[in-house]
This record gives sequence, C-alpha cells and structure tokens, in this order.
Amino acid sequence: MKFAIIYATKHGCTDKCVHTLANNLDDNTVLFNIENDKIININDYDSIILGGSIHAGTINKKLFGFMEKNLDILLQKELGLFICCMFEGDQALDQFRNAFPEALRNKTKAHGFFGGELAIEKMNLFEKAIIKKVANIEESVSKINYSNIKAFAEKMKSL
Ligand SMILES: Cc1cc2nc3c(=O)[nH]c(=O)nc-3n(C[C@H](O)[C@H](O)[C@H](O)COP(=O)(O)O)c2cc1C
Repeated sequence: MKFAIIYATKHGCTDKCVHTLANNLDDNTVLFNIENDKIININDYDSIILGGSIHAGTINKKLFGFMEKNLDILLQKELGLFICCMFEGDQALDQFRNAFPEALRNKTKAHGFFGGELAIEKMNLFEKAIIKKVANIEESVSKINYSNIKAFAEKMKSL
C-alpha cells in the first residue's frame, strides 16, 4: 500500500502530527504540504490522507480547493481524513463536517481527531488577541492526541 498525506499547517502543529502519522504507517509514505509542494500526482498512490488545522472554524482554503478539484479521482482511492484543532467532542465533529466535501466524508472509514497546539510565540498580534479573548490563554499549550494518531494509522493500514 502506497500512502500520500496531503496537508496544510499554519504554525507547524499539523506538520508535527503528519510526521508522527507517517512514522506509524510505512517507510515509503510521501508527505505533501499543500502550500509548498506544487505537483501532486494522486494517481501514484493507493491511499490518500487529507487533513489540516482549523482556524476560525475552517480548514485551509487551498486544501479545500484541492479536494473539490480532484473529487472524482479521490473517490477512487482509499481515503483518510483528519483535522488538528483545539475543540473536542461535538464542536470538533462540526468542524470536521465543515472541513471536507460531503462526498469524501461519506467515502472514508478513517476519521482523525489529532488535537492541537496553541503556540503563542508563532502567532501574530491579531492571533494572540483572538486566542486571549476566546481561550483566555497567554502561554503555549499542547494537546496533540498521539493515541488518536496511532489508531488512525492502524485504521488506514487495515483498509
Ligand atoms: C487564530 C487562531 C484561530 C483558531 N481557531 C480555532 C477554531 O476555530 N477551532 C479550533 O478548534 N481551534 C482553533 N484554533 C486552534 C488551532 O486549530 C490549533 O492551534 C492547531 O494546532 C493549529 O495547527 P497548525 O499549527 O498546523 O496550523 C485556532 C488557533 C489560532 C491561532
């Protein structure tokens, strides 16, 4: 099984999570950061994992556009979808629903909730102000859910 992970990150948390995920999948897993890697040939892979972080309730626009543009071919693959975010439970579920086209959500059997990090030192002034207001946090916090990443990798390998 040849895996590709196509992802978007703003402050590096998703990047950290996908490297952990790749280590739990297969040595040949290929990572594509949607912002840096321009040529992604989906046809080269049996299994595609798509995901990214949630900011103000939404996933990265480029990633969403990529999914919409390549919908037909993505539907022919084994698929896994994940998000990195600070919300949990129903709020995380709502964000997940909003993050992916419905057709992809209906097709996948692997749903990943990888948790998140608030890295104050990487935020601009605007982001810091939002986070202080919404979460009342002034120091960085990490809530990456490594056991969910591992379970997601196992699920992907079993598809
Ligand atoms: C300005 C800002 C807005 C955010 N908005 C949300 C949000 O709406 N829902 C949520 O669950 N997490 C939110 N987060 C938390 C991010 O999802 C979390 O920091 C994530 O780990 C970021 O991953 P990244 O570094 O890969 O972009 C927000 C974080 C920032 C800095």
